[in-house]
This record gives sequence, C-alpha cells and structure tokens, in this order.
Amino acid sequence: MSDTREQAWQLLRQHVQSEVLLKHCLSVEIAMRSYADKFGEDVEYWGAVGLLHDVDFEKYPNDHPNHAREILTAAGYDNQFATDVESHAREWQQERTLLQKTLLAVDELTGFIIACALVRPDKNLDNLEVKSVMKKMKDKAFARAVNRETITTSAEAMNVDFKEHVEFVTKALAQAVKMPEYQELPLVG
Ligand SMILES: [Fe+2]
Repeated sequence: MSDTREQAWQLLRQHVQSEVLLKHCLSVEIAMRSYADKFGEDVEYWGAVGLLHDVDFEKYPNDHPNHAREILTAAGYDNQFATDVESHAREWQQERTLLQKTLLAVDELTGFIIACALVRPDKNLDNLEVKSVMKKMKDKAFARAVNRETITTSAEAMNVDFKEHVEFVTKALAQAVKMPEYQELPLVG
C-alpha cells in the first residue's frame, strides 16, 4: 500500500470507530480507485478522497460534511482535497468535477450492492448479477434507507449507463475484497 493510502487510513481510524462506517469508507475507496483507473486519473488521490469522505460523520452526524475541512487541513490535506470531500453534500450548489460526480455516484451505490450480496445464500459478490441489483432497486421494501433517486440521478450526472455503472462497481468490489488490505474488515460478511 502507498504512503498516501496509509496516511488516509490512519487518519480515518483516528476519527471513525464504527466498523460499519469503516467498511462503507473502504467500499467507496475501492469504487473511487477503480473509476480513477478507468478514467486515467490519479488512483491514489481519488482513493484517498473516497476513504476520507465521511471522516467527520461519526463525530458530527448532524453537521456532516461541514467538519471535514478542519479535520483534513489539520492533518495536512490541501484545500482542494477538502473541497472534493465536501462536494458530496447533497445540497452542494456548484458544478461538480468528474471526481466529485463519481464520489456522489458511488457513495450510496456501494452500500446498496453490498446489501444485495449479503442477502444471497452464498453472500458472494462474485455471483451477484446486475439484473438482481436492478430488481432490488425497484423493491422499495429492500434496503429502505437507501435513496434510489440519489443513486440514479448521480449516475446520470456522471454520464454513465446505469447498468454498466452497477456492473463496474460490483466487479470492483468483488475483486477488491480478495486483496489483503480488505481482509481485516470483510466488506461482505
Ligand atoms: Fe458516504
């Protein structure tokens, strides 16, 4: 693992104790790294933004992400990094960059995909089919807390085909869970 990744992970661990939230941050990191690779962008930077996007959530659940900047700048991250993290606020008014659009588009989707894998008898992301995720998107009783509209509109803003987006993120998660750095806190299980 790179120093960039190690530094981000250490900072996250200082501010987040909840395993559920840590797993969420890891899954967003995976999706961000994969999309950065696909788009020819900076994989380490995108990954660090994904990993730290909810760094203030545990301490300030009702005022998130408004405390991310102070945490990040105190740890040496620059203003652009803090802005990239802040941009996933739903009420963000400015036009989002590709990185920022991607962050929003994978934030809730990763959790939804993992929820779909968890209800499979084998709890296996490898065998999770896109059509099953699409079906569960329409099943309002399933993972009720997940806002479907945020998932679909953010994908539209990214200008990606929704099915391809689901497939891409599912495959990214399925591959990453086999890597050593994601074994300590299994994303599915
Ligand atoms: Fe998040």
